[in-house]
Amino acid sequence: MSLFITFEGPEGSGKSTQARLLVEWLRDQGVPVLLTREPGGTPIGDRIRAILLHPSTQGLTPEAEVLLFSASRAQLVRQVILPFLQMGGVVICDRFADSTYAYQGYGRGLDLSTLRQITQFATEGLVPDLTFLIDVPVQVGLQRKRQGDGEDDWNRMEAEVQAYHERVRQGYLTMARSEPERWVVLDGREPVDVVQSRVREVVRERLGDRALRPRAGREPVA
Ligand code: TYD
Repeated sequence: MSLFITFEGPEGSGKSTQARLLVEWLRDQGVPVLLTREPGGTPIGDRIRAILLHPSTQGLTPEAEVLLFSASRAQLVRQVILPFLQMGGVVICDRFADSTYAYQGYGRGLDLSTLRQITQFATEGLVPDLTFLIDVPVQVGLQRKRQGDGEDDWNRMEAEVQAYHERVRQGYLTMARSEPERWVVLDGREPVDVVQSRVREVVRERLGDRALRPRAGREPVA
């Protein structure tokens, strides 16, 4: 059964760790699963990512920025995500189009309906089946990033002002509220294993027990 799951959240929310742990668990259960990320996830997308996140890309306009993110996405959808879903696999993506709405739309103030049109073109209308928002207060997330990355890895996005990150966070929460059947909001301040067990619970419900192979040592239930 194919399923497209995305992880979203502000800087330092711990969403990448959650995505990785979910993939490990699904693999253990015998589920065909693919982990990818945005921007990037393909050789071409990784080159676009390098432009986007490099500190020297200071003069990039918001419009150019959104088109670069979308170009990376268009490549990823066609080259990686759709083929894997068509084979019946589970795709887990660390950030997807909702990042564009949150960062470029709510964060930078670009028109949301224009962003939806660009996204529709980039993704062929592909929307995640399930999106986890790992939510943390802005200060907590930025503090974690600073400690984890060290000064040298401080990327261009993270150096943005606090107010911008606040708008991004509120944008995420607004989107989650407006589409509750797709979004699951989890508190990223909770311990990693607590968040992960909730993630697994939700995915188990969506996939159904039949998709999950019983653990070694137990007889399959007919
Ligand atoms: P990354 O180092 O992958 O950060 P994180 O671990 O938080 O995912 O950098 C991705 C950055 O790009 C992050 O600041 C969010 C931003 N971004 C956008 O602004 N728009 C987008 O559409 C996407 C996919 C990411």
